[in-house]
Amino acid sequence: MKEAIGPNGLFYFCNMSSLTPIGIFDSGYGGLTVMREIVTRLPRYDYIYLGDNARAPYGPRSFETVYRYTLQCVKWFFARGCPLVVLACNTASAKALRTIQQNDLPRIDPQKRVLGVIRPTTEVIGNYSGSKHIGILATAGTVSSNSYVIEIEKFFPEVQVFQQACPMWVPLIENEEYDTHGADFFVKKYINELLDQSPTIDTILLACTHYPIMHDKIREFTPADIRILSQGELVADSLADYLSRHPEIEKKLTLGGSHHFFTTDSTMDFDAHAANFYGASIRSRHVDVEDQKL
Ligand code: DGL
Repeated sequence: MKEAIGPNGLFYFCNMSSLTPIGIFDSGYGGLTVMREIVTRLPRYDYIYLGDNARAPYGPRSFETVYRYTLQCVKWFFARGCPLVVLACNTASAKALRTIQQNDLPRIDPQKRVLGVIRPTTEVIGNYSGSKHIGILATAGTVSSNSYVIEIEKFFPEVQVFQQACPMWVPLIENEEYDTHGADFFVKKYINELLDQSPTIDTILLACTHYPIMHDKIREFTPADIRILSQGELVADSLADYLSRHPEIEKKLTLGGSHHFFTTDSTMDFDAHAANFYGASIRSRHVDVEDQKL
């Protein structure tokens, strides 16, 4: 019997081995901003969250490393019975998702599904822009993958995409320094560098799941007529749509409304920081993911 957090935020006990939850993954805390929206939109399902905090940030790491780390974590979710895993991390979605879907899933278990956050965003983002000039703020890894440029082109060929890497933002957020005067310099710097690329950008996407936590600061340094979009709601809507179109996956999911949280690093640190991202207090458990075999 294990401790879990129910939809009302209270702790209760349940037998985790009987659950087939939706898995939600991030390199650290950022995915909690997406999970928060998903559980609001789809409250009936059971969820487990894994933050690979011991190896975060993923943003500056190579394709090979992000792929290897992400695959280990996906295998960990599968070993815990998840039929469906959402990579609530742009860097992992950009650098690992396609290879996992195309090469690993058919070998590991063709019945399992792994989804990312880039496609649900790119298939609707063009609808938000009148000028058809869209700005992307993301980690260096997401920008260098060019995933947003390639994917938006498929759905909205008339849209021009401008990208800016913000390598200082995740460390500022993870160290809870994002709301300080010291952070202002780097917030202004990246926004100005993005807007310098085109004077008619009218929509900016926060294409890193950490960034919504400093939405107010980003808003402060962005002209008021520019829309700032976060991904949480877009991903939640897209997941709801996916489940309605895939009853063969949906019917495998248990409906207990429980939320379990795991981290590869210190649970004390995770619990202290995570509430800020999730909007409710969290009690996590530690796991090692490096020895996953499937
Ligand atoms: N939250 C991750 C994303 O959406 C980035 C954090 C990191 O660099 O690990 O890209």
